[in-house]
Amino acid sequence: MDFIKQELTNLRNNALYRTLKTIDGSQSKKVIIDGKEYLSFCSNNYLDIANHPAITAAVIDAVKKYGWGAGASMLVSGNMTLHKQLEKEIAQFKKTEDSIVFPTGFMANVGTISSIVGNGDLIISDRLNHASIVEGSKLSKATFRVYAHCDIVRLEKILKRAKGFRRILIVTDSVFSMDGDIAPLKEIFPIAEEYNAMVMVDEAHATGVFGESGRGVLESLGLEHKADIVMGTLSKAVGGMGGFVCGNHDLVNYLRNKAKSFIYTTALPPAVCAAALAGLKLIKKSAELRTSLWKNINYFRERLNERKINCGNSQGPIIPIIIGDLEKTNHIAEILFENGILAPAIRPPTVPRGSSRIRVTIMSSHTKEDIDKFITILFNVTI
Ligand SMILES: Cc1ncc(COP(=O)(O)O)c(C=O)c1O
Repeated sequence: MDFIKQELTNLRNNALYRTLKTIDGSQSKKVIIDGKEYLSFCSNNYLDIANHPAITAAVIDAVKKYGWGAGASMLVSGNMTLHKQLEKEIAQFKKTEDSIVFPTGFMANVGTISSIVGNGDLIISDRLNHASIVEGSKLSKATFRVYAHCDIVRLEKILKRAKGFRRILIVTDSVFSMDGDIAPLKEIFPIAEEYNAMVMVDEAHATGVFGESGRGVLESLGLEHKADIVMGTLSKAVGGMGGFVCGNHDLVNYLRNKAKSFIYTTALPPAVCAAALAGLKLIKKSAELRTSLWKNINYFRERLNERKINCGNSQGPIIPIIIGDLEKTNHIAEILFENGILAPAIRPPTVPRGSSRIRVTIMSSHTKEDIDKFITILFNVTI
């Protein structure tokens, strides 16, 4: 087992060692670490509802009524009233026939991809797709081809050369998790149609944030019903935990029968479903949360533009401040932390080598003063 010590030493020597910070108290824009208050600029709780009274009340009610654990997988005896309600609510929200809930978004991607395609099939994936898409693809045993980030020409080249595959699946994040930019979906759908390929879109970071009703990027681009498979999470703007896939009844029934990360795992505790139901209700009823989030996103971006700070092509609440150098990125994250800001360095292998960054995420509850504080500290460090 010497290799473990060696590998840990390597990680430390290369400034790649990861440690955990413990948040004391609840998740909100202000968090407590070791007794000190920090402004969080790194949570995916974009609408700051993870600690919303309506959600905590729904959880307490559900625990009183249903207890905690679901006791078994959904197919055995873990499928309770709240699971059913949640799947129905997600389908209604996303305007699809049906939906299936997984314990996490990671499991939704892994289970869906590995059951939709297999040996003899082809997966075509954006280089910056989420790790769960990559892992699901590996598990599927399908041929896996990657196109340069958002490069529609490269995508079409792969399709043109693809001969003899039984099925082809194009899979992309709609909002990329470390870059905050948006997939060229308007171009992807017609090409997919031309080559008879299925399209799966991961709306993890878009659900609750993009589109007039918060349904995601597909809504904002007027492309709903174009994707064959829409995946999302309940763990980011919805403020809780869980993953889901929406589509027609056949797709959902297929996944219930085939997706191993659905079949062979215990169902979410019912109270987690109650939290998601309350979160979705807030998203539907409280458009002001989204309005305030977008006001903050625009203000933050304007401030970065003053100094021509490189934040790629990000468009939503994920705003990467791309530094490049690993040590420098770690240093900036430390200075931010010393000054009461939580926004850790994101380093390889999470992002490609030479593109280390501070991945900022904006919340609806941030104020102009919060943003100004962040910007002042950032501008005081040489980038
Ligand atoms: C694009 C994307 N898809 C899927 C996931 C996995 O979701 P979850 O955190 O709910 O497992 C994430 C999480 O970071 C993500 O960024």
